[in-house]
Amino acid sequence: MNRLEGKVAIVTGAARGLGAATAQVLAREGAKVLLTDVLLETGLNYCAMLAEQGHEAVFCEHDVTSESDWDRVMSTALEHFGRIDILVNNAGIQLPQTIEEMSLADFRRVLDVNLVGCFLGTQRAIRQMKNTGGGAIVNIASNSTQTIVPLTTAYSPSKAAVANLSKVAALHCAKEGYAIRVNSVHPGPCETDMLTGGDARAADIPQVRQLIDAIPLKRMGRPSEVGEVVAFLASDAASYVTAAELFVDGGLTASMMK
Ligand SMILES: NC(=O)c1ccc[n+]([C@@H]2O[C@H](COP(=O)([O-])OP(=O)(O)OC[C@H]3O[C@@H](n4cnc5c(N)ncnc54)[C@H](O)[C@@H]3O)[C@@H](O)[C@H]2O)c1
Repeated sequence: MNRLEGKVAIVTGAARGLGAATAQVLAREGAKVLLTDVLLETGLNYCAMLAEQGHEAVFCEHDVTSESDWDRVMSTALEHFGRIDILVNNAGIQLPQTIEEMSLADFRRVLDVNLVGCFLGTQRAIRQMKNTGGGAIVNIASNSTQTIVPLTTAYSPSKAAVANLSKVAALHCAKEGYAIRVNSVHPGPCETDMLTGGDARAADIPQVRQLIDAIPLKRMGRPSEVGEVVAFLASDAASYVTAAELFVDGGLTASMMK
């Protein structure tokens, strides 16, 4: 507890799913949290719930593909909390289509949210953190950087690029002598709207059952289990961890390796 006391964190895509769970874990560890999302009402409600639990939490409507939105998010964090120590680039989308079906517009949209959003946030966070003693950036990639399936035409390449962007940023910060660490987290299948469509019975669907059976731990991940790993990477306990990929997938990726 309190591993992040006094720190200020921004979590994107935090209205629900992994982002919401991560914001809650960071807040439990003592961080003041700025939650952002395109889902205004859901985000405001979730943020109000965190505040009711006694956490310092603020919500900001935010499209991660917009430069001006990022500028507003950074200003809001500084106005409310005075500094930025942690950024979690979590917002992401998946449009399940084969390479034959997918339109250029859809392909670009996935790259825009997953990769360009991450680029904009990482760049702006570095510009800010380098002047205030450093920080930690955690980018949410996916096990799909390694476990490739046909319906991830844009998603899988976007997440592979997120992993490499994280390393580029990490090495730049190290070279410049900024005390900023950048890492990527690679969740496997988790119980969120993105995978189950919010349906608790999803585990009964044959394809989902098949997926679960392939996971060595024989279950999907819980959103808080990803949040706990993000909290570790964001904390000083991970002071020697940068440019790393951390898989949180119940052993799935290792089990696929030859
Ligand atoms: N759920 C999984 O199994 C899984 C596995 C691997 C990786 N991930 C990754 O974890 C992250 C969170 O996924 P999730 O499962 O919680 O999904 P989710 O769909 O439940 O939540 C994603 C959130 O991002 C927000 N978002 C979408 N587009 C946005 C934009 N342009 N600007 C700001 N916010 C936007 C959504 O409104 C939503 O609240 C994503 O990056 C996803 O790719 C999820």
